[in-house]
Amino acid sequence: MSEFRTVARLEAVPSGTMLQVELDGEKIVLAHVGDRVFALHDECTHEEFALSSGELVGGQVTCALHGARFDLETGAPRALPAVKPVRTYEARIEGEDIQVKVG
Ligand code: FES
Repeated sequence: MSEFRTVARLEAVPSGTMLQVELDGEKIVLAHVGDRVFALHDECTHEEFALSSGELVGGQVTCALHGARFDLETGAPRALPAVKPVRTYEARIEGEDIQVKVG
């Protein structure tokens, strides 16, 4: 059964930043943009590099290793060299917490 689970305090991820969290052994990058939070599998689909080391620009994350970009909402690749999407998760802000839906 899928359910939202708290993975971080909102204050740990100020707007414009990212944070890697681990949930059930899965590394997830939280990205806070404006009043929204996004959650993606924290691994570039090009060469398994942590996206949380990259840069947030608008609604996209840029991989620090070779510059691939991914849409935060859908995980779709927006710039080479990545061609495969990153897995995304439903995320929400609940009071002072960030929650991600798993399962
Ligand atoms: S590992 Fe991310 S672009 Fe190459």
